[in-house]
Amino acid sequence: MSEQFSNASNEPLKIGVLISGSGSNLQALIDAIQAGNLNAKIEIVISSKPDAYGLQRAQKAGIQTVSLNPSVYANERVANSLIAEELQKAGAEYVIMAGYMRKVTEEILNAYPDRVVNLHPALLPSFVGAHAIQDAFESGVKVTGVTVHFANEEYDRGPIIAQRAVRIEEEDTLESLEERIHEVEHVLLPEVVQLIAEGRVEVTQNRTVAISQNS
Ligand code: GRF
Repeated sequence: MSEQFSNASNEPLKIGVLISGSGSNLQALIDAIQAGNLNAKIEIVISSKPDAYGLQRAQKAGIQTVSLNPSVYANERVANSLIAEELQKAGAEYVIMAGYMRKVTEEILNAYPDRVVNLHPALLPSFVGAHAIQDAFESGVKVTGVTVHFANEEYDRGPIIAQRAVRIEEEDTLESLEERIHEVEHVLLPEVVQLIAEGRVEVTQNRTVAISQNS
Protein backbone atom coordinates (compact mmCIF):
# COMPACT_ATOMS: atom_id res chain seq x y z
CA MET A 1 0.00 0.00 0.00
CA SER A 2 1.45 3.33 -0.90
CA GLU A 3 0.45 6.55 0.70
CA GLN A 4 0.49 9.74 -1.32
CA PHE A 5 0.53 12.74 0.93
CA SER A 6 -1.32 15.09 -1.36
CA ASN A 7 -1.68 18.72 -0.49
CA ALA A 8 -3.81 20.01 -3.33
CA SER A 9 -5.29 22.75 -1.18
CA ASN A 10 -1.92 24.53 -1.06
CA GLU A 11 -2.58 25.15 2.61
CA PRO A 12 0.69 25.50 4.56
CA LEU A 13 1.85 22.14 5.90
CA LYS A 14 1.35 22.19 9.67
CA ILE A 15 4.49 20.92 11.37
CA GLY A 16 5.78 20.36 14.89
CA VAL A 17 9.55 20.57 15.38
CA LEU A 18 11.49 18.60 18.01
CA ILE A 19 14.82 20.04 19.16
CA SER A 20 17.47 19.41 21.81
CA GLY A 21 20.09 22.08 21.30
CA SER A 22 21.08 25.16 19.31
CA GLY A 23 18.18 24.81 16.88
CA SER A 24 20.12 25.96 13.81
CA ASN A 25 18.02 23.58 11.70
CA LEU A 26 14.84 24.96 13.28
CA GLN A 27 16.14 28.42 12.32
CA ALA A 28 16.66 27.20 8.75
CA LEU A 29 12.99 26.15 8.63
CA ILE A 30 11.85 29.48 10.13
CA ASP A 31 13.98 31.42 7.60
CA ALA A 32 12.77 29.32 4.64
CA ILE A 33 9.13 29.97 5.62
CA GLN A 34 9.74 33.69 6.06
CA ALA A 35 11.56 33.85 2.71
CA GLY A 36 8.55 32.23 1.01
CA ASN A 37 10.55 29.09 0.08
CA LEU A 38 8.66 26.72 2.37
CA ASN A 39 4.86 26.41 2.41
CA ALA A 40 4.61 25.32 6.02
CA LYS A 41 3.58 26.63 9.43
CA ILE A 42 5.49 25.64 12.57
CA GLU A 43 2.66 25.09 15.07
CA ILE A 44 4.87 24.09 18.00
CA VAL A 45 8.49 23.53 19.01
CA ILE A 46 9.14 20.90 21.66
CA SER A 47 12.56 20.63 23.30
CA SER A 48 14.03 17.73 25.25
CA LYS A 49 16.12 20.29 27.15
CA PRO A 50 14.72 23.36 28.97
CA ASP A 51 17.88 25.36 28.24
CA ALA A 52 18.05 24.63 24.49
CA TYR A 53 18.92 27.84 22.61
CA GLY A 54 16.46 26.70 19.94
CA LEU A 55 13.64 27.59 22.35
CA GLN A 56 14.72 31.24 22.20
CA ARG A 57 14.77 31.08 18.40
CA ALA A 58 11.19 29.77 18.45
CA GLN A 59 9.99 32.37 20.93
CA LYS A 60 11.59 35.14 18.85
CA ALA A 61 9.63 33.84 15.86
CA GLY A 62 6.40 33.84 17.89
CA ILE A 63 6.12 30.03 17.89
CA GLN A 64 4.51 28.14 20.79
CA THR A 65 7.12 26.14 22.75
CA VAL A 66 7.07 23.26 25.22
CA SER A 67 10.18 21.97 26.96
CA LEU A 68 10.44 18.73 28.86
CA ASN A 69 12.58 18.28 31.93
CA PRO A 70 15.14 15.53 31.38
CA SER A 71 13.61 13.81 34.40
CA VAL A 72 10.45 13.18 32.35
CA TYR A 73 12.52 10.97 30.06
CA ALA A 74 13.15 8.58 32.94
CA ASN A 75 10.08 6.91 31.48
CA GLU A 76 10.54 7.21 27.70
CA ARG A 77 6.99 6.12 26.94
CA VAL A 78 5.50 8.75 29.24
CA ALA A 79 7.69 11.44 27.67
CA ASN A 80 6.74 10.37 24.15
CA SER A 81 3.05 10.20 25.03
CA LEU A 82 3.27 13.76 26.36
CA ILE A 83 5.04 14.89 23.18
CA ALA A 84 2.48 13.17 20.93
CA GLU A 85 -0.32 14.83 22.88
CA GLU A 86 1.23 18.30 22.58
CA LEU A 87 1.85 17.81 18.85
CA GLN A 88 -1.74 16.74 18.20
CA LYS A 89 -3.15 19.53 20.39
CA ALA A 90 -1.15 22.02 18.34
CA GLY A 91 -2.55 20.54 15.12
CA ALA A 92 0.76 19.33 13.72
CA GLU A 93 0.39 17.07 10.65
CA TYR A 94 4.09 16.18 10.45
CA VAL A 95 6.88 15.98 13.02
CA ILE A 96 10.36 17.23 12.12
CA MET A 97 13.23 16.07 14.34
CA ALA A 98 15.73 18.91 13.91
CA GLY A 99 18.75 18.25 16.06
CA TYR A 100 16.62 16.13 18.39
CA MET A 101 18.75 13.75 20.43
CA ARG A 102 16.14 11.46 21.93
CA LYS A 103 14.51 8.33 20.48
CA VAL A 104 10.94 8.63 19.30
CA THR A 105 8.95 5.61 20.41
CA GLU A 106 5.71 4.18 19.11
CA GLU A 107 3.62 6.71 21.06
CA ILE A 108 4.73 9.30 18.52
CA LEU A 109 5.32 6.96 15.54
CA ASN A 110 1.82 5.47 15.81
CA ALA A 111 0.27 8.93 15.99
CA TYR A 112 2.31 10.03 12.95
CA PRO A 113 2.88 6.94 10.75
CA ASP A 114 5.52 7.77 8.08
CA ARG A 115 5.15 11.37 9.13
CA VAL A 116 8.10 11.75 11.47
CA VAL A 117 11.06 13.18 9.57
CA ASN A 118 14.58 12.92 10.98
CA LEU A 119 17.77 14.70 9.99
CA HIS A 120 21.05 12.80 10.36
CA PRO A 121 24.50 14.32 9.74
CA ALA A 122 25.90 11.33 7.78
CA LEU A 123 25.00 9.14 4.78
CA LEU A 124 22.86 6.43 6.45
CA PRO A 125 23.21 3.55 6.96
CA SER A 126 26.80 4.61 7.58
CA PHE A 127 27.68 6.29 10.86
CA VAL A 128 24.44 5.91 12.82
CA GLY A 129 24.21 7.29 16.34
CA ALA A 130 24.92 10.53 18.11
CA HIS A 131 28.52 11.18 16.95
CA ALA A 132 28.13 10.70 13.21
CA ILE A 133 30.30 13.58 12.03
CA GLN A 134 33.20 12.70 14.32
CA ASP A 135 32.90 8.97 13.47
CA ALA A 136 33.05 9.74 9.75
CA PHE A 137 35.97 12.15 10.20
CA GLU A 138 37.97 9.64 12.28
CA SER A 139 37.21 6.73 9.95
CA GLY A 140 39.13 8.34 7.06
CA VAL A 141 36.23 8.22 4.56
CA LYS A 142 36.58 10.70 1.72
CA VAL A 143 32.85 11.43 1.43
CA THR A 144 30.21 11.76 4.10
CA GLY A 145 27.05 13.86 4.03
CA VAL A 146 23.52 14.43 5.29
CA THR A 147 20.43 12.21 5.30
CA VAL A 148 16.77 13.13 5.75
CA HIS A 149 14.59 10.09 6.38
CA PHE A 150 11.32 8.95 7.90
CA ALA A 151 12.02 7.84 11.47
CA ASN A 152 10.89 4.47 12.67
CA GLU A 153 11.30 2.50 15.88
CA GLU A 154 14.89 1.60 15.02
CA TYR A 155 17.08 4.62 15.65
CA ASP A 156 18.39 6.27 12.43
CA ARG A 157 16.68 3.64 10.26
CA GLY A 158 13.57 4.19 8.23
CA PRO A 159 12.91 5.09 4.59
CA ILE A 160 15.44 7.56 3.22
CA ILE A 161 13.89 10.61 1.55
CA ALA A 162 16.99 12.55 0.50
CA GLN A 163 20.77 12.57 0.88
CA ARG A 164 23.49 15.04 -0.03
CA ALA A 165 27.22 14.26 -0.09
CA VAL A 166 29.92 16.32 1.58
CA ARG A 167 33.58 15.66 0.64
CA ILE A 168 36.15 15.44 3.44
CA GLU A 169 39.25 17.36 2.29
CA GLU A 170 42.83 16.70 3.43
CA GLU A 171 42.98 20.08 5.18
CA ASP A 172 39.67 19.53 7.00
CA THR A 173 39.48 19.65 10.77
CA LEU A 174 36.51 18.17 12.62
CA GLU A 175 35.25 21.73 13.12
CA SER A 176 35.53 22.71 9.44
CA LEU A 177 33.74 19.50 8.44
CA GLU A 178 30.98 20.06 11.03
CA GLU A 179 30.47 23.55 9.63
CA ARG A 180 30.06 22.29 6.04
CA ILE A 181 27.73 19.48 7.18
CA HIS A 182 25.50 21.97 9.02
CA GLU A 183 25.44 24.25 5.96
CA VAL A 184 24.13 21.32 3.88
CA GLU A 185 21.59 20.39 6.58
CA HIS A 186 20.24 23.94 6.58
CA VAL A 187 19.52 23.63 2.84
CA LEU A 188 18.41 19.98 2.59
CA LEU A 189 15.93 19.90 5.47
CA PRO A 190 13.76 22.81 4.25
CA GLU A 191 13.93 21.39 0.70
CA VAL A 192 12.58 18.02 1.88
CA VAL A 193 9.82 19.56 4.01
CA GLN A 194 8.79 21.59 0.93
CA LEU A 195 8.65 18.38 -1.17
CA ILE A 196 6.33 16.90 1.47
CA ALA A 197 4.27 20.11 1.52
CA GLU A 198 3.87 19.76 -2.27
CA GLY A 199 2.63 16.20 -1.82
CA ARG A 200 5.55 14.82 -3.81
CA VAL A 201 6.87 12.27 -1.30
CA GLU A 202 5.47 8.75 -1.38
CA VAL A 203 6.46 5.87 0.90
CA THR A 204 5.86 2.53 -0.77
CA GLN A 205 5.48 -0.88 0.83
CA ASN A 206 9.11 -1.83 0.44
CA ARG A 207 9.99 1.21 2.42
CA THR A 208 11.57 3.17 -0.41
CA VAL A 209 10.56 6.75 -0.92
CA ALA A 210 9.58 8.14 -4.31
CA ILE A 211 9.74 11.83 -5.11
CA SER A 212 7.20 12.53 -7.83
CA GLN A 213 7.90 15.18 -10.45
CA ASN A 214 6.42 18.58 -9.81
CA SER A 215 2.67 18.04 -10.07
C1 GRF B 1 22.78 18.64 13.74
O1 GRF B 1 23.97 18.15 13.11
C2 GRF B 1 21.74 17.54 13.72
O2 GRF B 1 21.81 16.73 12.57
C3 GRF B 1 22.12 16.77 14.94
O3 GRF B 1 22.32 17.80 15.89
C4 GRF B 1 23.04 18.85 15.23
C5 GRF B 1 22.61 20.20 15.78
O4 GRF B 1 21.40 20.56 15.24
N1 GRF B 1 21.13 15.80 15.33
P1 GRF B 1 20.69 21.97 15.62
O5 GRF B 1 21.69 23.08 15.43
O6 GRF B 1 20.25 21.87 17.07
O7 GRF B 1 19.55 22.07 14.66
